[in-house]
Amino acid sequence: MSETVRYGIIGTGMMGHEHIRNLALVEGAEVTAYADPSLEQRWWTAQLGLEGATAYEDHRELLARAPIDAVVVASPNHTHRAVLEDVFASDLHVLIEKPLCTTVEDARYVTERAESHAGVVWMGMEYRYMAPLARLIEEVKGGTIGRLHMLAIREHRYPFLPKVGDWNRFSRNTGGTFVEKCCHFFDLMRLITDSEATRVYASAAQDVNHLDERYGGDTPDVLDNGFVTVDFENGVRALLDLCMFAEGSENEQELAATGDAGKIECRIPESTLTIGRRNPRRIETAKVEVDPAVLSAGAHHGSTFVEHLGFRRAILDGTAPQVTAEDGLRAVMIGAAAELSAAERRPVELREL
Ligand SMILES: NC(=O)c1ccc[n+]([C@@H]2O[C@H](COP(=O)([O-])OP(=O)(O)OC[C@H]3O[C@@H](n4cnc5c(N)ncnc54)[C@H](O)[C@@H]3O)[C@@H](O)[C@H]2O)c1
Repeated sequence: MSETVRYGIIGTGMMGHEHIRNLALVEGAEVTAYADPSLEQRWWTAQLGLEGATAYEDHRELLARAPIDAVVVASPNHTHRAVLEDVFASDLHVLIEKPLCTTVEDARYVTERAESHAGVVWMGMEYRYMAPLARLIEEVKGGTIGRLHMLAIREHRYPFLPKVGDWNRFSRNTGGTFVEKCCHFFDLMRLITDSEATRVYASAAQDVNHLDERYGGDTPDVLDNGFVTVDFENGVRALLDLCMFAEGSENEQELAATGDAGKIECRIPESTLTIGRRNPRRIETAKVEVDPAVLSAGAHHGSTFVEHLGFRRAILDGTAPQVTAEDGLRAVMIGAAAELSAAERRPVELREL
């Protein structure tokens, strides 16, 4: 294989376009094809100036005919399983947008299939690569705060955006807010605690957003705020504080990891990292710089670019993906446990799933 990796993008909505814009910044990456059933989306994608790229209406045509080495699956969550079954019939490398699937059953099935796939299967959990967050992870793992005991993740943001056909308004299409959006945070919890979740308790509801919208008589049913506590095997406890009617927030994500020797906080998009030590008490805050060209290529603080560097390297070097389908499955499981916990108002043991 040459040093240029040729990509096909399956699903060219908001996230597909973010992948295309970021791949344009990656040396040795070329988007040669894309597939989307929506004529309008194909038209928008044609405006991105992808010279020589072929548009397909059906992803199966792209898989059969396009001159590609790898695909990015950026179609809606509920299509992932079916699209991946077609991808697994090829030997193409694949980057799968989160969440892996909308249900634990589908995610388990896909993970099993991924294990025997010839190409690299990379799970898109790009929050790992947001620069301030990557620094926080590095410091925790490097022992800066001693032994980690608590991890708090706050996401206070705007409501779900309009999507092509507004598929994201219904849990049946997304897996529910804790699977769809929050799988990122459950993935971070696993990575930072270096452990697996055992028990989840969620208090959550849909109190504000989308309640006045109607789709053929149906009202959206996605949670818009909640607290989720997650107990880990190694005794670390983690908290997710989610609010999706919080446009009044200065930062969208704020994380705090506290150990017996200190605390690390990071804030996005402010892009700052604070390291606080207990003894002697010393608190320092530093800005974490990100290349402005990379920042403006997407909505995820430059992380999609870093993710693509890793995916391309794994393809060329034949190395294991940094984020596996199994990681995707585990994040879906915690999200599904949180959805169940909120619905039944009780703690859920992961082994129930
Ligand atoms: N990593 C992140 O932070 C992040 C952010 C946003 C979205 N996403 C994920 O990216 C995926 C796409 O989300 P989006 O926000 O771009 O949605 P979107 O609605 O903007 O785009 C989805 C596109 O997929 C197309 N599509 C539908 N069925 C298809 C199929 N079978 N084959 C090919 N294309 C198909 C639609 O026509 C649409 O153009 C979802 O899985 C979503 O969860 C990830």
